Amino acid sequence: MNTILITGASGGIGEAIAFQFAAKKHNLLLVARNESKLAALCKELHEKYRIDTQYIAADLTKPEAAAAIYEETIKRGLNVNVLINNAGRGSSGEFYQNDLESEIEMMQLNNASLVALTHCFLRNMIAKKSGNIINIASMIAYFPSPYMAVYAGTKHFVKIFTYALAEECKPYNLNVMLFSPGLTSSNFMNTKQNDNEWGKVVTQNSKTQTPEQVAAELMSAFEKKKSAWISGSQNRFFANISGLIPPRFIARTFGQQKRRQMGL
Ligand SMILES: NC(=O)c1ccc[n+]([C@@H]2O[C@H](COP(=O)([O-])OP(=O)(O)OC[C@H]3O[C@@H](n4cnc5c(N)ncnc54)[C@H](OP(=O)(O)O)[C@@H]3O)[C@@H](O)[C@H]2O)c1
Repeated sequence: MNTILITGASGGIGEAIAFQFAAKKHNLLLVARNESKLAALCKELHEKYRIDTQYIAADLTKPEAAAAIYEETIKRGLNVNVLINNAGRGSSGEFYQNDLESEIEMMQLNNASLVALTHCFLRNMIAKKSGNIINIASMIAYFPSPYMAVYAGTKHFVKIFTYALAEECKPYNLNVMLFSPGLTSSNFMNTKQNDNEWGKVVTQNSKTQTPEQVAAELMSAFEKKKSAWISGSQNRFFANISGLIPPRFIARTFGQQKRRQMGL
């Protein structure tokens, strides 16, 4: 049975993406840690849209999680024809003060598990010459971002990995899309790694989209077979002009601005 796998689907942007695809009558496999939220969402989507909805509760900071998810899809007889790597989290603060274990866990979640899931499901898509992969990066993937240094690094990785993979997948007729939201009103800035003074500085004066707006843009970009899309017209403008400015200049400007906002 053809199924769309969405990671990080228990809330925020991932949940809104699930609603978008459910409304188009796609069957869904939802992945996140919070089992009760996943179960409730599956029930709601099934009742509302009469699609097959399943979930797997998994912690993608664990290196073995991706292979376990893949094995489970085989056991359940699911053909994952669209993989949406959305699960991720951030961290804010001075790098030297951030908890190292937590930063490395974030790299496992935002990067290594994304790569591992892609590796698991891509083979079958290539064999069938049919399938789609959508990797969720961030507006921050276009800028060096002091005081979010590791998070920005993980999203730069997603961007560069996805551009390269998209090219490798062209001969197999697969569409690989990089999708980059800007600041979005989800739980993202409320996690313990982001909910601090440095995190608040990031959100000051920033235009915010809702997860529903972001997911609607993702659906539209998916249907138009875009290879990259940045959510929000203002975000698109800034990300596009960022390519014209030397990265070290951007880093210096952002760093100075954030220190000023912090009163340092
Ligand atoms: N919100 C923003 O401003 C923003 C901006 C740019 C990019 N993004 C990106 O958009 C994506 C979605 O973020 P969001 O804004 O929707 O954040 P969110 O509301 O915090 O949702 C994050 C999702 O990821 C799941 N998740 C977190 N840690 C996980 C883990 N260890 N294993 C499995 N699942 C995990 C969460 O579910 P559980 O807690 O149930 O595991 C949740 O479903 C992320 O990749 C983020 O980097 C967000």
